[in-house]
Amino acid sequence: MVTRIAPPEKPWRLASPKTMPLIEIDQLSKHYQVYQKQEGLWASVRGLFHRQYRQITALDAISLQVERGEFVAFLGPNGAGKTTTLKILSGVIHPTSGTCRVMGHVPWQRANAYRRRFALVMGQKNQLWWDLPAQESFRLHQHIYQIPAEQFQATRDELVDLLGLAKLMRQPVRELSLGERMKMELTAALLHRPEILFLDEPTIGLDVVAQHNIQQFLKHYQEVRSITILLTSHYMKDIEALCQRVVIINEGRIQFDGSLAEIVGKFDQERIVSLRLADTTGIADLQQFGRVTRSQPPQVQLRIPRSQVTSALTEILNRYQVDDVSVSDPPLEEVFAHLFTQGREATDQGASAPKEDMAGSRRLTGEARH
Ligand SMILES: Nc1ncnc2c1ncn2[C@@H]1O[C@H](COP(=O)(O)OP(=O)(O)O)[C@@H](O)[C@H]1O
Ligand SMILES: [Mg+2]
Repeated sequence: MVTRIAPPEKPWRLASPKTMPLIEIDQLSKHYQVYQKQEGLWASVRGLFHRQYRQITALDAISLQVERGEFVAFLGPNGAGKTTTLKILSGVIHPTSGTCRVMGHVPWQRANAYRRRFALVMGQKNQLWWDLPAQESFRLHQHIYQIPAEQFQATRDELVDLLGLAKLMRQPVRELSLGERMKMELTAALLHRPEILFLDEPTIGLDVVAQHNIQQFLKHYQEVRSITILLTSHYMKDIEALCQRVVIINEGRIQFDGSLAEIVGKFDQERIVSLRLADTTGIADLQQFGRVTRSQPPQVQLRIPRSQVTSALTEILNRYQVDDVSVSDPPLEEVFAHLFTQGREATDQGASAPKEDMAGSRRLTGEARH
């Protein structure tokens, strides 16, 4: 469980006056060259001498600005370019072209001064020593980042307390559950009090309870410390729980940059109405009110256009004997799946103009947010 922290005696909130964006990405592109292996023995032998490469465009001129204290969800299907972006921002790889500044630093110049100010946590990569207890890895971090002893202890104790890790500190990391390990990873990453946290799929593979705990922790910590977080995820629950701002990337291009409410309002045109009927007479006629998506009498589920939900429900309740009724939004996954497909269609057609129902948004199809 995540416990609340009392306001710190000596607050070290990182907030400072907003002057310039903390992260500024301008026309950033990344191409990977991948070796194209030919089929057949002779082709393979020929390939030893004349290698054929194929170019993959992981990022296609993306531009993005993030202000201090924002919690941004970076969202997109597999292969969209999310990890590539975070790797560039943390200086792990160079871009092919374009510029990027994070707190005034060019990340791939790897200045020590920059390294001390951010942290990168990857859900699929273990950064702690596998055979050592986490507390030993934490000490290593203290040395690497030259964290003064007092500050180290205070930060570690606070994080350990918040994440309920006290009992696990002496256990080798390999013996921890995935959720516990992620909490340790987060602790290690935050020991040097970074101003920016890059999180790449931090809840991947976690069960619902562990996911929830980590979400709660991130939300609380970000609020209390005002750090800036860029989080990639394909779990919609993460996004719903944590981020006001959502940046959607697909095939290396930014397709949407705005609030979650904006996406849902714009692309989610239907509501789900679930009914349990006391009397199933005339059940087939329900289709006049909307699309029947499930029919297991006496249960029926309908998709009804948002604007017609009230009138349809009034009519249904008048005509049918209903035991139970509930109205819900379609799952966010569906909304995003719709968005991703639309993006692809637009690209396939070579269209640069937004599609009709997207036209109202000022920030679609590659336009950066300001
Ligand atoms: N080291 C690499 N070499 C070649 N291609 C890569 C490499 N890393 C990523 N890619 C490709 O770049 C694209 C974007 O990958 P990535 O940034 O990992 O996407 P995401 O994190 O959104 O799933 C994908 O097509 C992927 O296959
Ligand atoms: Mg990835």
